[in-house]
Amino acid sequence: MSLPETTSDPHTANDADSASDLYGAAAEFYDLLAAPTWARLGPLLRGALDGVDPGHGPLLDIGAGTGLSTEAAADAVPDAQLLAVEPSAGMRIALSTRLACRPALAGRVTVTAGTLRDVRLPRRLCAAVALGVVGHLAPVERALLWRLLSERLAPGAPAVVDVLDRTAPPTRAPLRLATRRVGDLEYESWSEGADDGWTLTYRVRDGETVVREHTVPLPWSGVGIATVAEEAAVAGLVCTRLAPDFAVLRTTPLTREDHS
Ligand SMILES: C[S@@+](CC[C@H](N)C(=O)[O-])C[C@H]1O[C@@H](n2cnc3c(N)ncnc32)[C@H](O)[C@@H]1O
Repeated sequence: MSLPETTSDPHTANDADSASDLYGAAAEFYDLLAAPTWARLGPLLRGALDGVDPGHGPLLDIGAGTGLSTEAAADAVPDAQLLAVEPSAGMRIALSTRLACRPALAGRVTVTAGTLRDVRLPRRLCAAVALGVVGHLAPVERALLWRLLSERLAPGAPAVVDVLDRTAPPTRAPLRLATRRVGDLEYESWSEGADDGWTLTYRVRDGETVVREHTVPLPWSGVGIATVAEEAAVAGLVCTRLAPDFAVLRTTPLTREDHS
């Protein structure tokens, strides 16, 4: 049985823009302060995407943000076309700038303004990436994601997911995540956890003086890998944990030959 392509409603993306630019205030700072995160995440992602066959279809990046995950996935699977799905207009501006700086990447990445409900999915995907996003999804959205991945991923193809704020333990006490000198000023990112979310705070300092401060409260469900594995199993996906907060879902388990 061949699966139909999903359709998109052009009005939905606009609704998503206005309703959910949770990350708008973070976009200016996101890439400048991302290095510690990606020092750890880059190798994990490359390993998880090793062996992906781009001939099966495009690679889906859900919650592509500024394109850090999109670019890393594109570099890990050099011949893949990519579908980058991102609801935040602010983050998409940074994504567009990234694509403008790498014309070859721009030729490979199709951007959807919105969420999973807005993207036109092909019958088959060679892989999927959902980094920093699963905790933002309501249970019903996660169920939709697992079902679509189960239907569309090529047999044995990976969907790469992470669950916690990977830049910090989920501490309630404010924790400084990263610092970076930009011109004469020092940029800082801070995290502060809560039961149902966390707050990112960005500070720009001129010496001891804070010249700007932006707080970004983010809903985050706190869902862990065990819950992801249970939910994904209902949709027929097998979960392999690669780190405490990082896993790969597949439609079929890896064989001995795949491991060797
Ligand atoms: C922590 S950022 C991660 C960005 C990128 N994947 C990375 O690893 O750098 C999470 C992203 O998920 C997006 N997001 C939030 N809710 C979403 C949803 N329901 N569907 C798709 N993306 C969503 C946010 O706008 C944000 O850009």
